[in-house]
Amino acid sequence: MNYKFRFKIQINNRKYTCTNFIINHRSSVSMAFSSQLRPLFFCLLVLGFSCHAQLDSSFYSSSCPDLQSIVSSGMQDAVSSEPRMAASILRLHFHDCFVNGCDGSNLLDDTANFTGEKTAAPNKNSLRGFDTIDTIKSSVEASCNGTVSCADIVALAALEGIKAVNGPTWTVRLGRRDATTANFSGANSDLPPPNADLSTLISMFKAKNLDETDMTALSGAHTIGKARCVNFRGHIYNDTNINSTFAATRRENCPFSSGDNNLAPFDVQTENSFDNDFYQNLVAQKGLLHSDQELFNGGSQDSLVSTYSSDQATFFSDFMTAMSKMSEIDVLTGVDGEIRLNCRVVN
Ligand code: HEM
Repeated sequence: MNYKFRFKIQINNRKYTCTNFIINHRSSVSMAFSSQLRPLFFCLLVLGFSCHAQLDSSFYSSSCPDLQSIVSSGMQDAVSSEPRMAASILRLHFHDCFVNGCDGSNLLDDTANFTGEKTAAPNKNSLRGFDTIDTIKSSVEASCNGTVSCADIVALAALEGIKAVNGPTWTVRLGRRDATTANFSGANSDLPPPNADLSTLISMFKAKNLDETDMTALSGAHTIGKARCVNFRGHIYNDTNINSTFAATRRENCPFSSGDNNLAPFDVQTENSFDNDFYQNLVAQKGLLHSDQELFNGGSQDSLVSTYSSDQATFFSDFMTAMSKMSEIDVLTGVDGEIRLNCRVVN
């Protein structure tokens, strides 16, 4: 009989999870009673355990103790000069995590012989906040040189941005490392498009191990920030599941065949406040994107949208759970990747 083992160890203050060693029943019993446990353990390590460093909320507690306050004040400055920045950094984190995992890959600039993710369709002329991350990274480098990854800075900045616009707060686990490459085609294929239907949204999130509840809760991020006309034109001109007064208002600044980059807020009431208005808007058929309104269009997510629309605490709780999951997708840890010195360039 074979067993699959999973256990945790701590070496030099770093936590590791070890998995995947298959051992037969007889040897596991003899191992449990052996007085030679220690050398055997190391033999097993050599033989086949694979150990991965874990994320940990106190990862930088001795190497960069002021990290959270540096990122927090960086985001407060950014949001007070431009409130939309909370939204832009949150989206930056989402687009990082959905493409090759949360590894800072979407921060890399293109060069003559390298194409990153910035020019992929969902990001081009759209993804923002790179300067804010540069500014925060410089402050972090000034305090703790070569220590904190760009991927961790983005994850923390997303949290601090949400806090700065009255949203919920949670503990971000840290220890992500930065990619040394990016994935242009992944950015085109793995990020959900604004014309997606409900089943596409569900399957694209499932592909990242996020379930329907995670997907519907994370979509509540569309309570802050703005979208360009090119992304909601189809919905306001062609769809019938939209409030007619709302559609008419949105058409005023989003002509049928021009004005692609004209902006509209996701949340007509409070575009710079993180609340449950997104769901109230959906119930009133005032979703800005076709994909948003898919969450309340007679399908499987209607009841959850209704719940969130009247119960902000439940939305916040599910949002925090889903954000924690999203921000740990396929992270690089341990000796994988690197700690980039400049978030735009591989070391
Ligand atoms: C469910 C599938 C999703 C789709 C189809 C989608 C699509 C979009 C689109 C098209 C925009 C406007 C971009 C532009 O016009 O330039 C946008 C903006 C935004 N998205 Fe999403 N998104 C989704 C999920 C998410 C998630 C999971 C998050 C974060 C957890 C998020 C956060 C945001 C934010 C905050 C903005 C506003 C950004 C700003 O103002 O700079 N979105 N999204």
